[in-house]
Amino acid sequence: MGNKMIRGLVFILAFAIAGYAIVQYGFLNASNAGLVSFKLQKPNFELEPWIYVLYIHIFTAIFALIIGPFQLFITPTNARKRWHRLFGYVYVFSIIVSGIVNVYLSIFATGGWIAGLGFMSLDVLWVATTLIAIRKIMGKDIQAHKEWMLRSYALTFAAVMLRIWLTPLIILFGDFEAGFRAVAWVCWIPNLLVIEAVIYRMRLRREQGFTTATPK
Ligand code: HEM
Repeated sequence: MGNKMIRGLVFILAFAIAGYAIVQYGFLNASNAGLVSFKLQKPNFELEPWIYVLYIHIFTAIFALIIGPFQLFITPTNARKRWHRLFGYVYVFSIIVSGIVNVYLSIFATGGWIAGLGFMSLDVLWVATTLIAIRKIMGKDIQAHKEWMLRSYALTFAAVMLRIWLTPLIILFGDFEAGFRAVAWVCWIPNLLVIEAVIYRMRLRREQGFTTATPK
């Protein structure tokens, strides 16, 4: 698959999941969403205040999901720098706010502590990679900034991969909750491995570019 196709696919999947979240939680009844209706079957589950925290999570995380591909795939030329910076602030702010409320959501995650730990680890790494990326650009290290933002978005993309992996994992484990426990880890660990391979390839290409461009 070529670079253009991968980028196109990232855009489409990010918009599809954001669209799902907006329609399901903004226009339809949130209680009918698969995950929420499953939680409502549990006798000791209380919808409030959990649902309000979920709304904050969704409303902020959506910005990160949608803004990410524009920031990563459109080169910030001089003319576009202001926009890149502005959307960058929105991306970081949404991750910080979502990152805070995710701690609460992780504690009450479907699948108990195994799923909770998976989401909590994802959350800590999500905020950490994003803040490191910001520190790198404040130190004018553009290359490192790009690499850390790639890691940050690979983690944001867990929202997409969760919805792709969930059904196969439920079928594999034969049970929704067991599938959800697995997906809390599977939605982000492979993303990180893939993005490390991408970063490694980018570095190799840059070094090769340097050696061929160096005058003998
Ligand atoms: C990358 C860091 C993220 C973490 C750690 C995280 C964590 C969580 C947690 C713990 C839940 C509740 C699960 C439960 O109670 O069983 C949840 C639900 C949800 N999250 Fe996230 N999330 C992240 C990113 C995103 C993004 C980027 C979106 C963008 C749309 C998103 C959209 C949703 C939606 C819509 C739900 C409700 C469940 C559903 O209807 O599918 N999340 N998230």
